[in-house]
Amino acid sequence: MTPTRETFGNIPLSSQLAFYALAAASVAIFCWGVWRRVKLWQLGTSINARDLLAGSVAAVWQKLRGGAKRVAIDAGAQKRVFGHGVGTVAHVSMYVGFMALFVGTVLLEADNVLSHLHHALKFHEGTYYIVYEFTLDVLGVLFLVGTLFFLARRMVKPPSLGHRATDWYVLLAFLAIGVTGYVVEALRILWQQPTGIGADCSPVGLWLAGWLHLGEAEARHSHFIVWWIHSFLVFGFIASIPFTRLFHFIAGPANIFLTKTVLGVMPPVTMEEVEATGRVGPADIRHFSQQQLLSLDACMECGRCEEVCPAFATAKPLSPKRVVQDLKGAMEKTAAALTAGKEADVPPLHGATIAPETLWSCTACSACVNTCPVRIDQLTFILTLRRHLVAEGALSGTAATALRRMQSNANPWGLPAAERTNWTDALTPKS
Ligand code: HEM
Ligand code: SF4
Ligand code: SF4
Repeated sequence: MTPTRETFGNIPLSSQLAFYALAAASVAIFCWGVWRRVKLWQLGTSINARDLLAGSVAAVWQKLRGGAKRVAIDAGAQKRVFGHGVGTVAHVSMYVGFMALFVGTVLLEADNVLSHLHHALKFHEGTYYIVYEFTLDVLGVLFLVGTLFFLARRMVKPPSLGHRATDWYVLLAFLAIGVTGYVVEALRILWQQPTGIGADCSPVGLWLAGWLHLGEAEARHSHFIVWWIHSFLVFGFIASIPFTRLFHFIAGPANIFLTKTVLGVMPPVTMEEVEATGRVGPADIRHFSQQQLLSLDACMECGRCEEVCPAFATAKPLSPKRVVQDLKGAMEKTAAALTAGKEADVPPLHGATIAPETLWSCTACSACVNTCPVRIDQLTFILTLRRHLVAEGALSGTAATALRRMQSNANPWGLPAAERTNWTDALTPKS
């Protein structure tokens, strides 16, 4: 007999219809959640995203090529996730497993639709079926191993990692989705009784089936129940993506695609801009670009920028991760104030959101930008905010002193010009 299985085997038509209705509802919640975030990004200055798609196919490709390449390498091949020890291995493991399960589910649905159109179009059988089942069975284990590592890490609570209650929900949901997926497979094996390679190609499900001592009727009944539990968990997961840390796998690649950051290059300020706006640098969140606001949503609080920041390491009042999170908070508060029609409640960025000492603690070393897995440009946020302080004459502390000394003595330490060559004394050869 050709190895295969029915997509909705043991599931009555009424449940299949309910399944599709719930799938549509979860996708609708997902889209609504994404749209709410897009509305927040629209508070920023326009990046003329539509222009990206204007012109001939060759011209459009020319504009999109760089971003597409970055997404493929940084996010697709996870290049920027590398370099973080076991965290990297766990993420890549979870990512590969997740992508395999996602593609596998899409293929399964494609087979279901095509085989309903014409039975000759069914492709989920024979050698394809064996390779498919085996690959997904093995890669599903990778997904679970990565998830278990992240759960263990959350219990240890490394200080640089952000913690929210929803992080537990995400990881426990992943664990439950993986485990119930295997239980559904084991129960299906028990009632379907495949033989030979048709059973061996699902090693994990087969192994689990060996532990469950159930007759065919019991296996069918349990299969139906666990199939529904598994489906509910998956729908809950889809709907929750825009409301949890999982949103980084949408906003992350989007930011990687749109970012224009070149290390060491500050965005220019033009006189026309200053005349039009009456200010230099951002004073509230609407003065950042739409791409910069999107980048705030890409942050998954991994803490990697904080770990490499020399200011943070020397106990200065600066954490690049905190800056990003505080700006994100300001974005949300601004949207809420504007929705309520209360312009006066729009939080100012300086002081209320980010203290001047935080901004002046930055050494502009770029280590945070260089290490961020989703290419958030913390440094440009900080430097443009500083620009505003300088333009407003709101300099204080060591920065103000250094600038005053530069003006009077041409060096930030205030040393007299006559002592400029003193350092060469130590180099004078002893006679
Ligand atoms: C699209 C490209 C992606 C990038 C660049 C990315 C990057 C990252 C990074 C750097 C972390 C922190 C890991 C660490 O601390 O070492 C993280 C966390 C996480 N990622 Fe991704 N990720 C991506 C896609 C995905 C996908 C597709 C999933 C779905 C399984 C996923 C699920 C998670 C989860 C659940 C966490 C949090 C783990 C925890 O609670 O500690 N990511 N991601
Ligand atoms: S650029 Fe500033 S915030 Fe970023 S790592 Fe260096 S000192 Fe820290
Ligand atoms: S800004 Fe980037 S490196 Fe820093 S915590 Fe967020 S995602 Fe991680």
